[in-house]
Amino acid sequence: MESYILTINGKKHQILAKPNWTLMYVIREVVGLTGTKCGCSTGDCGACTVILDGEAVRSCTTLVKNVKDKTVETIEGLSKGTDLHPIQKAFIDNGAIQCGFCTPGIIMVIKAFLDRNPDPTEDEIRQAINGNLCRCTGYAKVVKAIQQAARVMRHEDQVMEAAVTAASTKGTIGRGVAVIDADLKATGSLKYTGDIVLPGMLHAKVLFSPHPHAKIISIDTSKAEALEGVEAVVCYKDSPDVRFNSNAEDKDASPSELVFDQIVRYVGDKVAAVAATSIEIAEAAVKLIDVEYEMLPYYLDPKEAMKEDAYQIHDFGNCLDPAVIETGDVDGQMAKASHVFEDTYSLQPIHHSAMEPHVSIAQYDISGKLTVYTPTQDVFGQRSNLSRIFGMSMNKIRVIRPAIGGGFGGKVDLVTEPVAALLSMKAMKPVKLVYTRREDIASSRIRHAMDVKVKTGVDEEGRIIAQDIQAVVNAGAHTSCSTSVAWAMSGKFLKVHKNKNIRINAQPVYTNTPVAAAMRGFGSPQGFFAQQRQLNRIAHELNKDITDLQLLNLVDPWDLESDGVMNVGNARAKDCVIKGKEDFSWADEMATMAASKQENGRYRIGVGMALGAHGNGLFNVMADTTGIMIKLNEDGSATFFTGVSDMGNGSSTLQAMAISEVLGITMDRIACHEADTETTLFDVGAYASRGTYISAQAARVTAVKVRETLEKYAAEYLDIPVKDVDFINNEAVSVRDFKTKASIGDLVIHAHEKHGKDICESDTFSAEANAVSYGAHFVKVQIDTQTGAIKVLKYVAIHDVGKPLNPLGLEGQVEGGIQMGMGQALSEGIIYDNQGKVTNRNFKNYTIPRAMDMPHIKAGFINSNEASGPFGGKSIGECAVVPSLSAIVNAVANGMEKEYNDLPVTADAVLASLNKNDQK
Ligand code: FES
Repeated sequence: MESYILTINGKKHQILAKPNWTLMYVIREVVGLTGTKCGCSTGDCGACTVILDGEAVRSCTTLVKNVKDKTVETIEGLSKGTDLHPIQKAFIDNGAIQCGFCTPGIIMVIKAFLDRNPDPTEDEIRQAINGNLCRCTGYAKVVKAIQQAARVMRHEDQVMEAAVTAASTKGTIGRGVAVIDADLKATGSLKYTGDIVLPGMLHAKVLFSPHPHAKIISIDTSKAEALEGVEAVVCYKDSPDVRFNSNAEDKDASPSELVFDQIVRYVGDKVAAVAATSIEIAEAAVKLIDVEYEMLPYYLDPKEAMKEDAYQIHDFGNCLDPAVIETGDVDGQMAKASHVFEDTYSLQPIHHSAMEPHVSIAQYDISGKLTVYTPTQDVFGQRSNLSRIFGMSMNKIRVIRPAIGGGFGGKVDLVTEPVAALLSMKAMKPVKLVYTRREDIASSRIRHAMDVKVKTGVDEEGRIIAQDIQAVVNAGAHTSCSTSVAWAMSGKFLKVHKNKNIRINAQPVYTNTPVAAAMRGFGSPQGFFAQQRQLNRIAHELNKDITDLQLLNLVDPWDLESDGVMNVGNARAKDCVIKGKEDFSWADEMATMAASKQENGRYRIGVGMALGAHGNGLFNVMADTTGIMIKLNEDGSATFFTGVSDMGNGSSTLQAMAISEVLGITMDRIACHEADTETTLFDVGAYASRGTYISAQAARVTAVKVRETLEKYAAEYLDIPVKDVDFINNEAVSVRDFKTKASIGDLVIHAHEKHGKDICESDTFSAEANAVSYGAHFVKVQIDTQTGAIKVLKYVAIHDVGKPLNPLGLEGQVEGGIQMGMGQALSEGIIYDNQGKVTNRNFKNYTIPRAMDMPHIKAGFINSNEASGPFGGKSIGECAVVPSLSAIVNAVANGMEKEYNDLPVTADAVLASLNKNDQK
């Protein structure tokens, strides 16, 4: 150890550190300033950015020995008390913050940048943040916020009234409201799980399998155990012999996992783990574990694994339960079709890449209680699963979700939690397990790779009359929710077209690759990619405009789904196409594409569109419930308790908005306590696009219950009839004169003093419908025929979300969804070597779209009303991503006049599709 003097945020710190420690480690772990985040440790994501002598640097790749005598600024130094820096204010006001994990790093980059360049162009701004990854926002609102901050710093503009403050009047619904914890996120004050330090906490490291399929013949942990500082080592010998499914909602679907198994089933599977007094010791210890393996046959390709004579990856075989749907007369109608099209589409596995990697802290105490801090999307599911694994009653397990740096479906399953718990039980101390980015990409969860074969029969006009879909779904090494994903993908085919003749068979298959699980869209992006790419080909072959073909086939409001069981609700799919066509100037852009073909130069313009749909919640699949409790405080402010885990998608904000709308309490006086199994009511989990449709509805119905109680007290207190009571701006008022009034706080005290009661209500909302959200995306691309490079130039996305409840949040969801879809369409994809080892395990090689890649996005909404949704609204989160893959690739295909059926369509894929005449 050496002594260093560091000046951080104007304060001198004398610290003891090893010269090879990174500045990030020192700032976070030694000094305790956790606003600086770790997203990759390789300098590729920018979450750890700090300012060193005026220059923005990656603190994860800067060694402490090189910063002697330099001044360091971190996010904590940017604001003075509650006085935020204009950049921080602009980020909040413009909705540039969702999960917030990337935010401190981007703000620090921009602080240094604007100090140097106070009047930048948009291009310069995008260049400046191009080294910073954000997985939530698509950068659109980030860029807008930076532009506004620059104007404010040049004294040309005022920071606009905070969106939250703007909502401080009656009528919150329909206004743009920033996420309710945006100030904590903008200042780096919000504590994510990785920021938490418990007394006596140990640090864990996992030994991962180097083999795709092997049996552990012997394992010797004695050298690791003997290392000073090591307090626990666990492997399959310590694991409870209880097989579980990491996805709790599918807990009875072929439980295939153990916390540690004697068989490892993919490169990156867990072999053993160590808990030690420091992460350095834990890392050294796992290297001391000797393992002898017996190799077993392995399969990377599900088509190989599903062969009858294939070696069984699990005792119950290599095929999971398939999704099988047959409705109408597929063969009869196919035989009558004027044209039949048959195509196969192949989609690659992608990684969620939430900026916050998987992490958890487990604390098992002397009373036999297990407390787990984890950024999960499903606290109750985790509790249920941990209860099953460890044979503990649920009152002895508390799962707390401190904050979550992005989820996108990847944080539904148990990943690190049971390992940390097992280590904590052995060490009897709290244990923190953080996956590095390499580990996160190779050993957490991924999106299902699929091959989807679609056979479609159409009549003379292009009306779809029969469709036959066969899909092979790569489930990876364990069960998770693969069968549910197959069903969800299949079910979407029933919600879009008027065609009643559909046959689907989607077969998930185990392979020796990382575990595939829930990811934003839950099968819809794959299914719609196949369906909408083929529709584009059909339009081309029939010489029709694809938008006309869409309108010919799409469902109308209240139509029954193809199987005739449920209706599609107030489905405005056609309106999305019509509005999108207009907003995009479809006819003009098609003419531009035609001219580009005529010109036949180096650059080709491509124009395309696609439609997507997604459900709202789980009704008709399982009981879909959310419980909310609201209590009013003596000053009339409110605190609500919700089991819903807000991933940065704004679900807590929308719940607060619903409460504000019903009770007339302003947003600044509503606090949220969320996702804690001990203090909140049961919620099914933050997935399946439940955020608006279910959780905001739960908040609304509970607030209505509070209102009924409050009305009685108000009538009594003001001596007016109940029917004359309204609540506006934190007061109860008589609607007869608006002068007779009392503060809501007075009513709470009145309830205490006169009736001996609290004003506190809880309710559980259970869905009785499952509306469908739709979106139509329109895209213009430029393709360089020399390099194959594709640039997305223009993007219009129109969504049917019923009534738009929070336009700021909705736009943010659409912009982020498009970024994710664009990644899958053009650049992302997990790459395996011939052993199934993931070879692109960092953000240099796993290429998420950056700020320079993203186009301007115009997000628009059909302002309709979904009667079954809260205040007429529907959800957006997953639908936002669904049409984007096919819309982008349709544009590329149309521009190049080639078919691209395999994702991603990289520059190399474009070049490979060209013949000599195509290259200019
Ligand atoms: Fe940028 Fe979530 S807000 S990663």
